[in-house]
Amino acid sequence: MTPEQIKLVQDSFKSVAPIAATAADIFYGRLFEVAPQLRPLFPQDMSEQKKKLMQMIGVAVTNLHQVETIAGAVQDLGRRHVGYGVRDEHYDIVGGALLWTLGKGLGDAFTADVESAWAEAYGLLASVMKDAAAEAA
Ligand code: HEM
Repeated sequence: MTPEQIKLVQDSFKSVAPIAATAADIFYGRLFEVAPQLRPLFPQDMSEQKKKLMQMIGVAVTNLHQVETIAGAVQDLGRRHVGYGVRDEHYDIVGGALLWTLGKGLGDAFTADVESAWAEAYGLLASVMKDAAAEAA
């Protein structure tokens, strides 16, 4: 990612952070609408899950400029996801729902540059998680 892209992601996340709970509702609503087959992987009560997801995205976004400091934690996260029943092909579905949510949350501020910066950031995290999962298998 370029420094400009990192800044676009970090600045736009600041606009979403205050509405994190709503963003999480929109995200999971969208995810289970486009991929209802993923719903059984998650617990009945999603409230803890919503908090954890937004927290982890926050940590990742904050540290994008020094991604090596969180690489170990992201690898661990990827390995844990194998145990949740998550497979490689699920990552693109989740990425799509994430970008869609950002589009809803940011409105006009979700420019093409912001979108591709987020796609890069998510792709980076997802590939570290998938690589760690594959090595663990
Ligand atoms: C960059 C991508 C992702 C991030 C940052 C992320 C983040 C998290 C976090 C922080 C947790 C809490 C538990 C833990 O720390 O181990 C979690 C759990 C979980 N995630 Fe993800 N996740 C990602 C991708 C995915 C994908 C692609 C799926 C596919 C459906 C998924 C499904 C789940 C499920 C099923 C749980 C466990 C819920 C439970 O049983 O409590 N995640 N995720």
